[in-house]
Parts: sequence; structure tokens; C-alpha cells
Amino acid sequence: MRKNIYSNENTKYKILAVDDEEGILDSLQVFLTKEGYSFVGVTDPIEAIEKLKAEHFDLMLLDFIMTPLHGDQVVEEIRKFNKELYILLLTGHKDLAPPLETIKRLDIQGYCEKSDKFDQLLLLVESGIKAISQMNLIREINIELKDTYAQLEKAYMESIETLRYTVEAKDSYTRGHSDRVSAYSVLIGEKLGLSATDLNTLKIGGLFHDIGKIGVPDSILLKDSRLTDDEYSEIKNHPAIGAHILSNATIFKDVIPIVKHHHERYDGKGYPGKLSGENIPYMARITAVADAFDAMTSKRTYRDSLPIEVVKEEIEKNKGTQFDPQIADAFLDILNNEYGKIEKIREEFNPEK
Ligand SMILES: [Fe+2]
Repeated sequence: MRKNIYSNENTKYKILAVDDEEGILDSLQVFLTKEGYSFVGVTDPIEAIEKLKAEHFDLMLLDFIMTPLHGDQVVEEIRKFNKELYILLLTGHKDLAPPLETIKRLDIQGYCEKSDKFDQLLLLVESGIKAISQMNLIREINIELKDTYAQLEKAYMESIETLRYTVEAKDSYTRGHSDRVSAYSVLIGEKLGLSATDLNTLKIGGLFHDIGKIGVPDSILLKDSRLTDDEYSEIKNHPAIGAHILSNATIFKDVIPIVKHHHERYDGKGYPGKLSGENIPYMARITAVADAFDAMTSKRTYRDSLPIEVVKEEIEKNKGTQFDPQIADAFLDILNNEYGKIEKIREEFNPEK
């Protein structure tokens, strides 16, 4: 392998030139470093490929007719691992230029004929560098935007989490309940073959479905005795309050239907929208099954948790009235065949505590 004959990598943009004629590299070196570019010249195309694997270059000037690989073959190799390098092909004579088709296929940005004057080459290099710097700028802005967005998302999540803990701190039933509903909903979603995005929506929806209880007076929320009709209608406001709390942040856009409609019933007798069947958002129908299951299997002030066989019968009995039958079946399938997963969730977020 022949050694590099030039190396000057101090300036911002790095150009790699590959030509088996040392004289050409010599001229390019003098000319391009005079223009302020960082320049590396290599005579061996295979060494050039290895060099590109090991370090970053912005632009490559490539001789077309070389041994053992022609310029287009060199590009073919490079494109396997580097799609971003800006490549300009240098041809010895017009007739030897590769067909336009090849130039396009290999994503070669331009070519020019070698000559004693470098005016045309310099123009091509300058416009190449301009394109590269614009691309870099766009990439930087995108990274910054992503960072800012992630920070905003995190801040929103944290503030809503704080609200959730506030609800849970005052209402012992809600403690652990939202974690379990979240986990059960994800189990059902997995059984129904939902996408990772939808599963995440179910997860967050479960965590925050009762967030609106923050807006229900403690005297009602914590009441041990039977609720009056008026008090019950206050409780029924929690889905709408929850949806309102989350409505300020776009990251909760997909979660809001769950929060708003988790108390709808398949037969249209639920609240707040009295929606029925398919009119109830799909995710909300899933959360409704998980929510009801957790209510039945949790200890309440007025009753113990129900035995699992009774719970299964209840779900079976309420298919098509309270629950979406297909979702209820998916959950019954989990209860009958994968009960270990349910137990694990109950252990982690113990309803008896
Ligand atoms: Fe609720």
C-alpha cells in the first residue's frame, strides 16, 4: 500500500483527493490549501476507502480511470457505508466520463474534466462546500429542536406526574390503581397486536386516566358512605377535567381520548359522552376493561376484592353491554392462559397495600 503523500487537516472542511497520478495530487494540494481547505491526497483507491471508514471527510475528488478500481467502483464501495460524502469525479477526457445513469445511481454530485486551470473545479468545490455547510446547519438545527422538544416533553410529563401523585396521595384507592390499569391495558394491547406507539399511548393513558380526580372535592372523593346523586355527578366530571388538564400539551394528544372516555359503556349507557360501540375511541374501550378489572380486584372501603373466578364471570356477562366483546375476549384469554402476567403486575403495584 502506498503512503499518503500529503496531509494537512487543520481547516474546517476536509477534502480527500484520489488520483493515481501524483502530479495531479500535487497541483490540487497547492491549489486547494491556498483556498483554505484541509487537503489529503491518496494515490491508492483502496487506501482511500479505508481512510473514509476511519475518518470524516466532507468532500472527495475522485479520478475516474484508476487501477485496481475505477472511480465508479470506488464510489460503489463507499456508498455501502457512507451516503453523505459529497463526491466530485475528475475525468481525464470527456469520452471517458461514466454514463449519467451511473453518476445518478451512485449519487455523485458532479464531475469535471481535468485541466491545467482549476477554475471550473474550484466552482464545483465551492458549491459543494456550500451545500455541505447548509446540510450541516440543518442537521444542527434538527438536533437542537429535538433536544428542546424532548426537554419540553419531559417537563410536561413531570408536571403531570406531580399532579398524579397529588391525586394518589389523597385517594388511597387511586394509589397503584393507575399503574395497574396502565400495565393491564398494555397487556391487552399486546394481545390485540397493537403497534409500539399505540402501546405507549395505552401506557400513558392508563397512568393518567383518573388525573381529573384532582378537580373533585375531597369531601366527595374520600367519602366512606354512599354518594348522593349530586355527589356522584361531581365524580362523573373527572374524565372531562382530566382531558382539560392534558389538553395544553400536544404530547398528550393521543392520550386525551382515553382519559375522556374511559367510563363510556359499549351499550351507550356510560359517561360523559354516552358514546356506544365503535364510537368510543378504541384505546378508551381497552382502558375501560382494565379499569373495571382493577376495580373488581381491589379492596374498597365497602367490600373486599372479588375472587378471580367471579371477576371472569362478570367480564363474560358484561360483554357487549359494558365492554367491547372483542376486547373483553382478549382480556379473558390473558386471564385464562397468562395469569402469571397479571399476578406479576399485582405484585409490583400491590392493591392490598
Ligand atoms: Fe376513572
